[in-house]
Amino acid sequence: MEIKIIKKKEFFENLEFFKSNLGLAYNYDNLECLKEYDATVTNETLQEKCNEVCEKVFNGFKKCFEEADYDIFLAIACGEGCICSVASFEREAGEDWYIDAVTTRIGYRGRGLATKVLCAGLKELKSRCTLHVNKNNTIAFNLYKKLGFVVSQDTNPKNAENQYLKNSFFMVKEYAKDLEK
Ligand SMILES: CC(C)(COP(=O)(O)OP(=O)(O)OC[C@H]1O[C@@H](n2cnc3c(N)ncnc32)[C@H](O)[C@@H]1OP(=O)(O)O)[C@@H](O)C(=O)NCCC(=O)NCCS
Repeated sequence: MEIKIIKKKEFFENLEFFKSNLGLAYNYDNLECLKEYDATVTNETLQEKCNEVCEKVFNGFKKCFEEADYDIFLAIACGEGCICSVASFEREAGEDWYIDAVTTRIGYRGRGLATKVLCAGLKELKSRCTLHVNKNNTIAFNLYKKLGFVVSQDTNPKNAENQYLKNSFFMVKEYAKDLEK
């Protein structure tokens, strides 16, 4: 399994690969995952819905990569021709880095991939990093704690009304020299 950092250049050089893979990395070819997204999805409509959602995911990332005042890169674990684990690292002008969209494909979980992907991404940063994690998501919460994130009382006032974020911990990792090793 290869761990790679995907910046703008790598993303646009491999556009077809990301178009066919990025959405799948989020398990949107899985009925349970798609049902969470849309309860009306059935085995018969799975493929169609999967294509639709995957295209939306890809286009969302593509738009972020195109925006000039928005820093974004992906850290991915790649093997067997697919993205098995992914995390995005994003930063709006003047703000802290923010980790979003961390996931490992079902079937590849528990093999240390998210840990490797997150460590690789964190090594790229030279400043503070933040994230949100749902209060019920013990596995992810423990993973972030292991990597040095701590729960912070700070929240971004822009997000105050977001229901998902209301039920989440806001976690922060200060820039640490140890990551350079
Ligand atoms: C959270 C998630 C990304 C972890 O991915 P992963 O590749 O399985 O993670 P790792 O293999 O690096 O494991 C990280 C830690 O979690 C533990 N862990 C992984 N799966 C576990 C499970 N099913 N039950 C208990 N612990 C588990 C591992 O033992 C490891 O801990 P350790 O280092 O102390 O041994 C993955 O479970 C996932 O995709 N979940 C759904 C999406 C999600 O919740 N994303 C986070 C949003 S904030």
